[in-house]
Amino acid sequence: MGFTIALAGKGGTGKTTVAALIIKYLKRHGKTPILAVDADSNACLNEALGLEVHTTIGRIREQSLDSIRSSNERLGGMSIEQLFEYQVQQSIVESDGLDLIVMGRPEGPGCYCAANNIIRKYTDLLSQKYPYIVIDNEAGMEHLSRRTNTDVDILMLVSDATIKGIMTMNRINDLIKELNLKVKRVFPIVNMADSNQFDLLSQKAKEYGFNDIRFIPKDNIISEYDIKGRPIIQIPEDSVSYLAVKNILDCADLPSS
Ligand SMILES: Nc1ncnc2c1ncn2[C@@H]1O[C@H](COP(=O)(O)OP(=O)(O)OP(=O)(O)O)[C@@H](O)[C@H]1O
Ligand SMILES: [Mg+2]
Repeated sequence: MGFTIALAGKGGTGKTTVAALIIKYLKRHGKTPILAVDADSNACLNEALGLEVHTTIGRIREQSLDSIRSSNERLGGMSIEQLFEYQVQQSIVESDGLDLIVMGRPEGPGCYCAANNIIRKYTDLLSQKYPYIVIDNEAGMEHLSRRTNTDVDILMLVSDATIKGIMTMNRINDLIKELNLKVKRVFPIVNMADSNQFDLLSQKAKEYGFNDIRFIPKDNIISEYDIKGRPIIQIPEDSVSYLAVKNILDCADLPSS
């Protein structure tokens, strides 16, 4: 398994945006190939990365389940397991130094255990091929309880400049300990803060045990790119948000590629 950076936090705090900036940093510093995993059912990491998605793991799961239902249909002589492997491989969006896999919709009613086991096997195998993996999670905490066998090297807990955001970071942090998840380091981050709020927010974060909070300022360039529908990964390298992410990762002792 490659060096894995995952993002978690309250809804709308900037997880996907920060994931795109982390990927920008990794690419810029030659820390490639990177596997980006969009684990949010309402997938939009691809837009932040400027990549087009043709299918999702969720859709593949549905389709193969349909094949199983329709009397063990064999597609082109392939077994269901081979079909899965082939389709997972086909679903990867490839670009220069960066591949993307989109998990898509979680399972609906029905028994997906067999399908999920096969998917897990192939996504685990796939993860081993990349030295860097960035996982953009959906908001909340439910995804954490599903993740049992993935080691995370750095978990970026992203909050906005609100007490609710900081409280969510705290709850996620507690849950990680409770579930005994394999998270090596936790980086608490307050995103979209004004510099005049830094002191107060640091103080509040300390009350929740976060003594080493990091800040990513509110960045007009991000808002501009957002409105124009331009990929966040393309923002200039001297943008305040990118410089803040660079600063965080420069000090994170990432493995050399
Ligand atoms: N540092 C920043 N400066 C300005 N705007 C930002 C910044 N970070 C994020 N945003 C904006 O905040 C909004 C939410 O960001 P984003 O979609 O990344 O959040 P999220 O946590 O991934 O949301 P969700 O929980 O829905 O997945 C977007 O419109 C994004 O452009
Ligand atoms: Mg998101």
